[in-house]
Amino acid sequence: MNAEALVTRELLPEAMDFLGGKVDVEVGAVGFDLPHAELLAKVADKKGLLSMLTDVVDAEVMDRAPGLKIIANCAVGFNNIDVEHARRKGILVTNTPGVLTETTAELTLALILAVLRRLPQAERFTRGKKFKGWALDLWLGKDLQGSRLGIIGFGRIGRAVALRAAAFGAEVVYCDPLRARPDIEKFYKAARLPLDDLLRTSDIVAIHAGLTTETRHLLSRERLALMKKDAVLINTARGPIVDEKALAEALAAGRLWGAGLDVYEREPEIEERLFSLDNVVLLPHIGSATYKTRLKMAMTAARNLIQGLGGERPDNLVS
Ligand code: DGY
Repeated sequence: MNAEALVTRELLPEAMDFLGGKVDVEVGAVGFDLPHAELLAKVADKKGLLSMLTDVVDAEVMDRAPGLKIIANCAVGFNNIDVEHARRKGILVTNTPGVLTETTAELTLALILAVLRRLPQAERFTRGKKFKGWALDLWLGKDLQGSRLGIIGFGRIGRAVALRAAAFGAEVVYCDPLRARPDIEKFYKAARLPLDDLLRTSDIVAIHAGLTTETRHLLSRERLALMKKDAVLINTARGPIVDEKALAEALAAGRLWGAGLDVYEREPEIEERLFSLDNVVLLPHIGSATYKTRLKMAMTAARNLIQGLGGERPDNLVS
């Protein structure tokens, strides 16, 4: 008998056991991303698809699988899925919100501090046996305390970052198409600003928006030019929100003080120029990468898949 669902890439063992106990699944790939051509071939006879954010689940994939009922993405972001096409075809689409909020916020804070205090550079210096003793001017960085943090996208993760940054003594401002309720703004001690004002006045700008047609290149060359010369840009959301080439040029020219990036415009490719710049900290899309959280994501996606296959309304519908 053919498997009912395709899991494009093997999940963590506990999630695989949980899912395998309830649904007959085929695992597309182990330890690498399933090539798109194989995804097309393997999905054809499936009713369910559990996808990774690296899988492009486009109209072609959905059209190949006439019996497809549900696409359960193992991520909070779902820009890899043509949700409009799924809606037209009556295919359910789900994501994994909530379970990775704190973990991603912690990584964001780690990245902010790493850039401000130049931790990777100082670590490389020490490891390179260049430390010859304490000096008043050794590896001077910037304080988070007393700085203004501008958050773009004031959803779950943006708010969790606001809370943590406030505990460090930062002033928080945010920009979002929706204004938060006054009691929420009060709780987070965050004031809403138009995007350009946020960019002009923030010492640190952190992106926490989803990738949509509206947010693609939201931080264009022109917008990056609005930022203060000694400001820092942090992106743990989605790479294409920033014009990566323009960012690399601004960093190289000293028009920005630094950047911390966990995501890239054309992952896994990274703008070549960034590798040689010392004022940027580069991470490999690990915002939610703790075992506990990745397991929660996999279990959430598995549950959504099972619910969709069983004809129930899945918990985390996005379509
Ligand atoms: C997501 O879930 O969208 C993150 O990018 C990966 O954790």
